[in-house]
Amino acid sequence: SSGARVSVLVIGSGYGGSVAALRLAQAGVDVHMIEMGMAWDTPGADGKIFAHTTKPDERSFWLRTKTKQPLSSFLGFPIDRDIQRYTGILDAEEFAGITVYQGRGVGGGSLVNGGMAVTPKRENFRAILPSVNPDEMYNVYYPRANAELGVHTIDPAWFEVAECYQYARVGRKQAQRSGFPFVFVPNVYDWDYMKQEQAGTAPRSAVAGELLYGNNYGKKSLQKTYLKQIAATGRVTISPLHRVTSVTPAPRGGYTVEIEQLTTAGAVSTTKTITADTVFFAAGSVGTSKLLVKLKATGALPNLNSEIGKGWGDNGNVMCGRANHIWDPTGTLQASVPTGGIDNWAAGGAFAEVAPLPTGIETWASFYLTLTNNPHRARFHWNPSTKQVDLDWQKVWKQPSIEMAKTIFHKINATEGTIYRSDLFGVNTIWGDHLTYHPLGGAVLNKATDNYGRLVEYPGLYVMDGSLIPGNTSVNPFVTITALAERNIEEIIASDF
Ligand code: FDA
Repeated sequence: SSGARVSVLVIGSGYGGSVAALRLAQAGVDVHMIEMGMAWDTPGADGKIFAHTTKPDERSFWLRTKTKQPLSSFLGFPIDRDIQRYTGILDAEEFAGITVYQGRGVGGGSLVNGGMAVTPKRENFRAILPSVNPDEMYNVYYPRANAELGVHTIDPAWFEVAECYQYARVGRKQAQRSGFPFVFVPNVYDWDYMKQEQAGTAPRSAVAGELLYGNNYGKKSLQKTYLKQIAATGRVTISPLHRVTSVTPAPRGGYTVEIEQLTTAGAVSTTKTITADTVFFAAGSVGTSKLLVKLKATGALPNLNSEIGKGWGDNGNVMCGRANHIWDPTGTLQASVPTGGIDNWAAGGAFAEVAPLPTGIETWASFYLTLTNNPHRARFHWNPSTKQVDLDWQKVWKQPSIEMAKTIFHKINATEGTIYRSDLFGVNTIWGDHLTYHPLGGAVLNKATDNYGRLVEYPGLYVMDGSLIPGNTSVNPFVTITALAERNIEEIIASDF
């Protein structure tokens, strides 16, 4: 409540925020987490907490009156529909040159993501975080993150026979015929549960296409891992539908934090001011960067260094589909959780995940989310006339990603005698180059912060999320975000508490 004084305030309840809150609570520190999204613990009128993928409703999107689905069309027809404006789970946040998809709610991106839980190859790690000791990461913090998140690889024998992975087996066959290695991608999905879904002995979740708007059953989001452990400590309070708007030094020490309470229509119902001894920024790459850039520019935290807002990248995301021959159906039943990818990172700068197209009908299409080694980095700026934070990413900056993705798909198309699909992102459009699922950077480790996430100009302020990572992880990012948070919080608890 307004006027309160708390010891530790954590802004955001995604991976970085959950790691920090759990480890602090286990060390005997009381923690208050502030989350702008909803709790996602109560079923709606249909008895389910999360909306279905093919029937988006108000629960599906953050404060929009029309859906903004990543695949915006099918067979050339637009598929977006009108919905009620509501504090839904998936935010499609639009900047001038890119739409950034993010999870909103207690659990952050873990509520909506594909669960792909990938540790980067050690030889790529130096380029990702050059100031971090790789021995510590690969011996201690990556194993810790993987264990806590519940990461496992699909049973390879089951993969060979599962109806819901026919699309992935087609993807593997075509990759291998073009000479590319196909590798299994670990996931946090409960594989035993998926076997039961496929067998029809448990309610369907991944096998029913659930993903983008939340999984009602089998995915181990943070709700089932870190946040469950957090609740068991009894030391952490979580305030959903609360948004932090300002952090500034308090007259008698600590920080004054301004917080807006939101209605489910997105209106501000109350404004609260509290004091916190310590504040962790874990609002995600975009959320943390936007807050810090605004607070520096508007004089709330004027001494933040000039690296704030820099080093942002899209993890090289680019999407595309390929049309298959009629004798290569990808299946009407497709598990939403990808389980394998095509590795051409070393030679072509591209790693393509074989993704589902869970429409419920045979599409004769293969669909891919490719992560590429795109070199472009953008910067967040305060715009005094709109009083908003802008991002200077340009749409043409995706061109290197397209070229890298082509090193895989031009070759596969040549081998197979097939073509790209051009009906998934509009009319006559091959590349999904308008979006990212993987925002990274904006408060880069050892540049905007010290080597552990401390904002050194302001003792007691820390960054703990994907904004620490300079734009690219070479793989899907949440395992690296989690492992880095485990590393940083261990040092911060030992030295600062
Ligand atoms: P994260 O975004 O998780 O959490 C930040 C939280 O802070 C959010 O809950 C937000 O609402 C809250 N917040 C923001 N501003 C606030 C404010 N001012 N006040 C209060 N709260 C605020 N990654 C991966 O490794 N494998 C995968 O398969 C996928 N797939 C995928 C699919 C889709 C559709 C998306 C959108 C994303 C993915 N990702 C992914 C990306 C992954 O989910 C992402 O990298 C992490 O969730 C980022 O973790 P953070 O802790 O940085 O922030």
